[in-house]
Amino acid sequence: MTARPVIKPLLRVLAGGREPIPPIWLMRQAGRYLPEYRALRKQADGFLDLCFDPRRAAEITLQPIRRFGFDVAILFSDILVVPHALGQAVTFAEGEGPRLDALKDPSALDRLRAEIDHKELEPIYETIARVRQDLPPAVTLLGFCGAPWTLATYMIAGCGTADQFPARLFAYQHPAAFAKLTDALVEASASYLIRQFAAGVDAVQIFDTWAGILPAGEFQKWCIRPAAGIIEKVRSTVPHAKIIGFPRGAGTELGRYLDALAVDAIGLDWTVELDFARTKIQPRRPVQGNLDPLALLTGGGALDRSIDAILAAFADGPFIFNLGHGVLPDTPISHVEHLIGRVRGVSSSG
Ligand code: CP3
Repeated sequence: MTARPVIKPLLRVLAGGREPIPPIWLMRQAGRYLPEYRALRKQADGFLDLCFDPRRAAEITLQPIRRFGFDVAILFSDILVVPHALGQAVTFAEGEGPRLDALKDPSALDRLRAEIDHKELEPIYETIARVRQDLPPAVTLLGFCGAPWTLATYMIAGCGTADQFPARLFAYQHPAAFAKLTDALVEASASYLIRQFAAGVDAVQIFDTWAGILPAGEFQKWCIRPAAGIIEKVRSTVPHAKIIGFPRGAGTELGRYLDALAVDAIGLDWTVELDFARTKIQPRRPVQGNLDPLALLTGGGALDRSIDAILAAFADGPFIFNLGHGVLPDTPISHVEHLIGRVRGVSSSG
């Protein structure tokens, strides 16, 4: 007797289907709000050492699956491994976020490699292969990369900044050099995602965390066009590659993003109005989102009202439950458990 193949709920939604109970996962579900993550993090020399240690990275990827039974395991890694593999120095100081050797002017681009060094990324591909072996069959393994614009904001500033002045200034002052950097990141990201598929991911997400800071014309140039380049290159090698786009803060540009990009689903941040998304976005593409991470941290009535409004808006169409951005480190575990129970209809109060 042959066992019936298990069709993963997330992949059914990415194919345009509606699931009676929406698949659920959370951005940053593997991270500092989990005591078992903090324990492993304490033993490691640095955050990137964890990302490049297949045994521990696989373990961290699986931690939230074991604890909560999410429908998706997102690879434990970081978007900044791509600049690292292009030869830029990247470090993470505890509690301070990333530090990079900032690209201060166009001549600094010469310090980058022409192509990403897949040898440096080999441990990540090995992590994917390891997770694959231990993953329950209904759970989707999700790879990811940062979008070129978001990567460029960190590469140029050398750290996180509130309004991305350094990268926006660079793009206005040196458009040719900025385009060259973006093209290199399109190339590097596409080849990185292709290798992730070869190693065993079921789907990938492109994180454009800083998409919302761009004026409309620049959004077209630095967010949409590069994403289109990545998608086209990935699908020329992996024709049926499943891709989720997450242009955080895109607001009124969401429509144009969908006009231009053949993403299989669109991640909505928590500011996107539900009725607008239900009537204008979900009929065009499956939606993912969009609980405010602060509502999850707060819990109680604020959390329940937010969950119920999102379910009421999206449950009749193709929908993946998620946050509108990553889990905040102070989020209580019990709130995450409550969220999952409420979405799956196994608890309705508390
Ligand atoms: O979602 C997941 O659980 C998978 C792993 C993942 C991480 N970062 C782990 C991480 C993913 C998908 C990312 C994406 C990422 N990284 C983005 C895009 C999405 C987003 O959250 O905006 C960005 C902009 C980064 C860059 C980055 N990495 C920053 C700005 C920081 C510092 C701020 C912070 O939240 O700590 C990181 C560090 C980071 N990435 C941690 C984790 C678990 C914390 C590192 C630690 O333990 O000290």
